[in-house]
Amino acid sequence: MRTQVAIVGGGPAGLMLARLLELRDIESVVIERRDREYVQQRVRAGVLEQATMDLMDEVGLGGRMHAEGLVHEGVELRFDGEGHRIALSELTDGRAITIYGQQEVVKDLIEARLESGLPLLFDVSDVEVDPSAPRVTFTHRGESHVLDCDVIAGCDGFHGVCRPAIADVLTVYEREYPFGWLGILAHCAPSSEELVYAHHRRGFALASMRSHEITRMYLQCEPDEDASEWSDDAIWDELDRRFGMQVNRGEVFEKGVTPMRSFVVEPMQHQRLFLAGDAAHIVPPTGAKGLNTAMADVYLLAHAIEDSYRGDSSGLDAYSARALERVWRVQHFSWWMTSMLHRFAGDDDFQMKIQQSQLLYTARSTAQATALAENYVGMPFRAR
Ligand code: APR
Ligand code: PHB
Repeated sequence: MRTQVAIVGGGPAGLMLARLLELRDIESVVIERRDREYVQQRVRAGVLEQATMDLMDEVGLGGRMHAEGLVHEGVELRFDGEGHRIALSELTDGRAITIYGQQEVVKDLIEARLESGLPLLFDVSDVEVDPSAPRVTFTHRGESHVLDCDVIAGCDGFHGVCRPAIADVLTVYEREYPFGWLGILAHCAPSSEELVYAHHRRGFALASMRSHEITRMYLQCEPDEDASEWSDDAIWDELDRRFGMQVNRGEVFEKGVTPMRSFVVEPMQHQRLFLAGDAAHIVPPTGAKGLNTAMADVYLLAHAIEDSYRGDSSGLDAYSARALERVWRVQHFSWWMTSMLHRFAGDDDFQMKIQQSQLLYTARSTAQATALAENYVGMPFRAR
């Protein structure tokens, strides 16, 4: 088998890259380890930056996002018993975020791919990549395949095979946080129209949503917390305490713990293998950046691949350096939000006051609020 671009991983990064290449008449084969159902049901983040919304439109798949997504022009910071709104759109010349689940983005991309009749293979196993050949081998429906190509896109997430295949040439930058997030999805109306990021002595809490009928909430917890040990009532009571109000309650239909980590490898490429998305970097979810950063990577990579077929390989050569500039901006923002909003073990009252002062300054100073807003709605995607 031969193709131009072999895409390992059918998450948001791999699927969006495939779509961008399709629109440039560049062939690709996407191979995904899981089945379609699993990939579409996996519960992940739900905030699309302005540039991700624009990209969904650019690739012709913004329809359902506009119909079902919720556009938000602000977020709330809640601390010391009071809420403070950050007017995202006012502070960023009208840019906004849209609440639309990652799995909805994935559904839209999968449907488009299958409708175009282009190769997207689920349930593959034994995936191995040879970055110098370049070549990908795998098993699908009991048969082994060899896929020769010009470029391998490593879009196989944090636990994939692409990053380990070039581990020898990579430098790892990493930080683990001594806490996790206990997240729930529940059948009830959100308690606030906009997202609420709450700082509290007992720990961080976040109020988000998926629709007008589905609430998404998170509580800072121990990193190895067992979600099943939390009764629904205990979760709601703790949310009430941390938000300092009675939140709407409803049937909890999903409960899980998310670990918190910052992680980057450099460089994001070696020979003919290019890493994108979670395969190359992870952020703690406090800035809602994971999905959006994956999209920024593949936007840049698609343009670089396109240029290379036109005889200019400078974009591919510079891919890692260019992608990493934005990756580190996002890393800093996510780390900053995380540090400002969470309680760390051993934090004393001095630290509590310092965090509250930082939050108050962010809420009151136009300069600082603008810094939060422009990072939150997201830096523009770079094509070259
Ligand atoms: N071969 C093929 N596919 C693989 C392999 C493999 N060896 N290993 C992993 N995969 C698949 C996973 O099953 C998954 O569907 O690669 C896909 C990677 O998708 P994501 O983990 O969603 O990563 P990415 O596409 O980079 O998107 C980043 O995901 O973790 C969230 O918050 C993060 O929203 C962000 C987004
Ligand atoms: C979510 O809705 O899942 C969500 C929202 C904002 C975040 C993280 C997750 O910062």
